[in-house]
Amino acid sequence: MKEELNILIQAQYPLIYLVTSEEERAEQAISTIAQSSKPQQRRVYVWTVTHGIVEYGQPRNVTQHNTVSPEAAIEWIIRHKEPAIFILKDLHPFIDAPATTRSLRDAIASFKGTNKNIVLMSPMQQIPIELEKEVVVLDFPLPDMGELNKVLTYHINQNQGRRLTTEAREKLLRAALGLTKDESEKVYRKAQVTTGRLTEDEVDIVLSEKKQLIRRNGILEYIEEDETIDSVGGLEELKKWLTQRSNAFTERAREYGLPQPKGMLILGVPGCGKSLIAKTTSRLWGLPLLRLDMGRVYDGSMVGRSEANLRNALKTAESISPAILFIDELDKSFAGSAGSGDSDGGTSSRIFGSFLTWMQEKKSPVFVMATANRVERLPGEFLRKGRFDEIFFVDLPTPEERQDIFRIHLTKRRKDISRFDLQQLSTMSDGFSGAEIEQALIAAMYEAFAQEREFTQLDIIAALKATLPLSRTMQEQVTALRDWARQRARPAAASVAEYQRMEF
Ligand SMILES: Nc1ncnc2c1ncn2[C@@H]1O[C@H](COP(=O)(O)OP(=O)(O)OP(=O)(O)O)[C@@H](O)[C@H]1O
Ligand SMILES: [Mg+2]
Repeated sequence: MKEELNILIQAQYPLIYLVTSEEERAEQAISTIAQSSKPQQRRVYVWTVTHGIVEYGQPRNVTQHNTVSPEAAIEWIIRHKEPAIFILKDLHPFIDAPATTRSLRDAIASFKGTNKNIVLMSPMQQIPIELEKEVVVLDFPLPDMGELNKVLTYHINQNQGRRLTTEAREKLLRAALGLTKDESEKVYRKAQVTTGRLTEDEVDIVLSEKKQLIRRNGILEYIEEDETIDSVGGLEELKKWLTQRSNAFTERAREYGLPQPKGMLILGVPGCGKSLIAKTTSRLWGLPLLRLDMGRVYDGSMVGRSEANLRNALKTAESISPAILFIDELDKSFAGSAGSGDSDGGTSSRIFGSFLTWMQEKKSPVFVMATANRVERLPGEFLRKGRFDEIFFVDLPTPEERQDIFRIHLTKRRKDISRFDLQQLSTMSDGFSGAEIEQALIAAMYEAFAQEREFTQLDIIAALKATLPLSRTMQEQVTALRDWARQRARPAAASVAEYQRMEF
């Protein structure tokens, strides 16, 4: 990306909008670009609303007089003769003002053939229509391994001087991916203070600090799932698909010529294991699982805020990649966007658009794993071929799958399951979802527990009889979903033949 910024600056793009909250790092990057600028080095000037224009690297009081107001600053920039890069830091609150917009347009017009560029630096993207065509937007990425290595090396030299093995170093670096430079300094310091050193043993401290920092912004969350894929009953096709791709993000797969998987969508009846299997994939693939909470992306407090939230979350996910980005209940996330009927002043349409664009263009190994159960609420664009690698449909479990689910949940709670007749339980639970089977089992256990005895087959049967499964109370919806999915999605259950045999 720094390469990209370099190219834009050298190619005399007059107005570059750099989205970042890391001002210092971004300024350094720009200063480096300015120094290696051709045909000659360029100076860098920084404008802030408190000090006006100050040359980069100079003390703040060495300011250009009367450049505190945005228009005066831009006027000064227009008059400035030599090639230079001008960083405007606090402009976004003013950018909608007619005078500011006008000044910027004048500046752009005056820049032709001058080797001058303006870089607007802001934590969020906000561009008035008048400037949309003139500005190029760039996301300043979070530090990569190389930059983190500098932070770590500095820290090690300052604090312990002890050499790290290559593996320990790599683990410590990887553990901090996804953090800003300041944050990575903080977590290394915290780990150091906790145990008095920073070695391979402290990787877990760094990781858990990172998880907290990432959660603090409220949109992404690290999920840890102890269950393995074996705790999911049935869904053999889906499991096979996932298992085949266990090594899809390795160097070996690239060398073999395989493309990077983009993502999958799991549609299906409520309570049949969609979220569960998505979570266990993290373990299967050995990749971190980041849940994107779409509900939290929306923020009406300021224009552009929601977009900024989404960008930041995606940026974090990319820097932690390879990773799985888990969007549970995608249908709810984009309910307000175009094509879904609702409207909220266009925010969700824009968010939806940005998300699609990101999915389309992403190069980094972030695998999107989305689940949904209300297809009619999903914007059609998601279902178009090629958006996801595969769309799976998770139906109510088949009789065999129900046995499997009983076996899994009984084993989880009691070692000896030979006392139970799984086949009978399966027959008695026709139309039940996995979640309902689990709930019936728990109800049976409570019943027996209250009577201070071990629970039995009969307790489970009684609980099953007392339950009215969703597939009956909401028969219409379930049937509609099933009819819809039969045509368009791949069945997650054992085989197509088996799936077609099923009748409900
Ligand atoms: N196939 C299954 N195998 C084992 N357990 C299951 C299965 N399906 C559901 N369960 C149990 O039910 C719980 C709820 O399932 P899960 O949250 O994965 O359903 P879902 O398909 O995501 O439903 P929703 O559409 O309501 O989000 C799981 O945590 C698990 O304990
Ligand atoms: Mg779910």
